[in-house]
Amino acid sequence: MSESTGIVGPGRVAVVTGAASGIGLGLCERFAAEGMHVVMADVEEPALTTAAAKLAGQGARVLSVPTDVSSADQVTALRDAALAEFGAVHLLCNNAGVGGPHGPLWEIPTCDWEWVLRVNLGGVINGVRAFVPVLAAQDTAHVLNTASVFGVFAGALGPYGISKHAIVALSETLYFQLQSAAPNVGVSVLCPGAVRTRFGSSARNRPAWAGPATALTPAEQDSAARFDQLQAAAGADPADVADAVVAGVRSSRFYILTSTNRNEAIARRGREIIEGGPPAPPFP
Ligand SMILES: NC(=O)c1ccc[n+]([C@@H]2O[C@H](COP(=O)([O-])OP(=O)(O)OC[C@H]3O[C@@H](n4cnc5c(N)ncnc54)[C@H](O)[C@@H]3O)[C@@H](O)[C@H]2O)c1
Repeated sequence: MSESTGIVGPGRVAVVTGAASGIGLGLCERFAAEGMHVVMADVEEPALTTAAAKLAGQGARVLSVPTDVSSADQVTALRDAALAEFGAVHLLCNNAGVGGPHGPLWEIPTCDWEWVLRVNLGGVINGVRAFVPVLAAQDTAHVLNTASVFGVFAGALGPYGISKHAIVALSETLYFQLQSAAPNVGVSVLCPGAVRTRFGSSARNRPAWAGPATALTPAEQDSAARFDQLQAAAGADPADVADAVVAGVRSSRFYILTSTNRNEAIARRGREIIEGGPPAPPFP
């Protein structure tokens, strides 16, 4: 970790995807409170309009850009809109994400795989491809990718966890590459534990191209219900996640965790890899 990077502060510009709800909205509120200009991007337009109007009403300079992060063209248009409005982007938060089915991998339909991977992983790839060349040409900037604690311990939660492992790997690769190509651009990967958001109803944003949602088996319904209960009961407040992000970006922290209760599962995965496995389930 190093000294303050000056990324979070008055007059700086943040772009946040998945900004209309949950963690993304919490980030926008915190960045606005820090005096930053905020570009809010989300596929759920009514929620985006409401959230952006509320933040602007509190005195922040806000630009809202309806964006489906799975579309490279729309993410490029988001970048262009941000630059046209504010002239620079200092903090890019590739945060939009969806849940999806948790069942046996071989039974999950292709359309479900595509939806989760195109939004979660594809959205981060599109963000990196569109924004990093611009960030690299500035004096200073930072990329924050939202993965999950499910991205750092042995796999679970089907395509979701797989997408989150990939986001961690992408972020590590991006960090190494920027260290030599553009050390003025920092990278962090946010790996939250449970957070109280609308994540349990991700299917509200399922795009037409993914077809109708696959009916859940009773076991999957049970698993989804337990996940939602865990979030509601033990989930962190998005404002606390935003605190961790601001502190992490200010100290150039790479892995930003928001809870300690999965530390043993994370450490165990490392030990199992060295010792030859097999992987132990994260929730023994
Ligand atoms: N809530 C948790 O417990 C938790 C834990 C770990 C990681 N995360 C991650 O945090 C991120 C934010 O999720 P959240 O918990 O705040 O859920 P949320 O549903 O409250 O917010 C997610 C936002 O992403 C938007 N979105 C969905 N698909 C999109 C698309 N194609 N393009 C643009 N925007 C899209 C939604 O409209 C919504 O506003 C996700 O990447 C999620 O995987 C959440």
